[in-house]
Amino acid sequence: MKLDALVFDAYGTLFDVHSVMRRCETCWPGKGAALSAAWRAKQLEYTWQRSLMRAYRPFSEVTRDALEHSCQALGLALSPAQRDELMGEYLRLALFPDVALQGLPGKKAILSNGSPDMLDPLVKQSGLRFDAVLSVDELKIYKPAPEVYALAVGRLGVPARRIGFVSSNCWDALGAKAFGFNVFWINRNGAPVDRLGVQPDAILKSLGDLPEVLR
Ligand code: LAC
Repeated sequence: MKLDALVFDAYGTLFDVHSVMRRCETCWPGKGAALSAAWRAKQLEYTWQRSLMRAYRPFSEVTRDALEHSCQALGLALSPAQRDELMGEYLRLALFPDVALQGLPGKKAILSNGSPDMLDPLVKQSGLRFDAVLSVDELKIYKPAPEVYALAVGRLGVPARRIGFVSSNCWDALGAKAFGFNVFWINRNGAPVDRLGVQPDAILKSLGDLPEVLR
């Protein structure tokens, strides 16, 4: 496969959103895993709902709303200090251990739901280098709206058929496939493919398998 650019999803693909679990667990022993799962699920749900409602708010706000709702749903009292602390965790999420971009061909970019106030500090502290870090924030609509994927084509100056899109979020991978990218779904947990009428071009167990399929 001859590609001129690789475009990566951020949250859940490069950065482990569930690295917030430890601090959740410190705040509410025994509830860390449940809160982390609820928080992520609600965060995504709000992005889809806000896009359909044409009521965009930045990902930082959506993420905070999702945290507050999830705590309330689980019966956990969240003080303003705890809320700020947990939101702070999003600025230093752990990189997945299989992230290695050295040696990958072509331009490298991030295309993320994350608003620049969250995404830029996170990428900066990771030490990873990209040719472009693109946020849906300039379009005011979330993935998997096709105009989000089109943003990468425009910015990188590379046609969709020469772009490889890499995501661990199946719904994002399939949104990118429907748009016209070559798609690598990083399926670390052996989940079934979502039923959305399209299939990823390749399903990999780890980001570490990417160099091999790109050869
Ligand atoms: C992102 C979401 C999908 O980084 O995790 O865009």
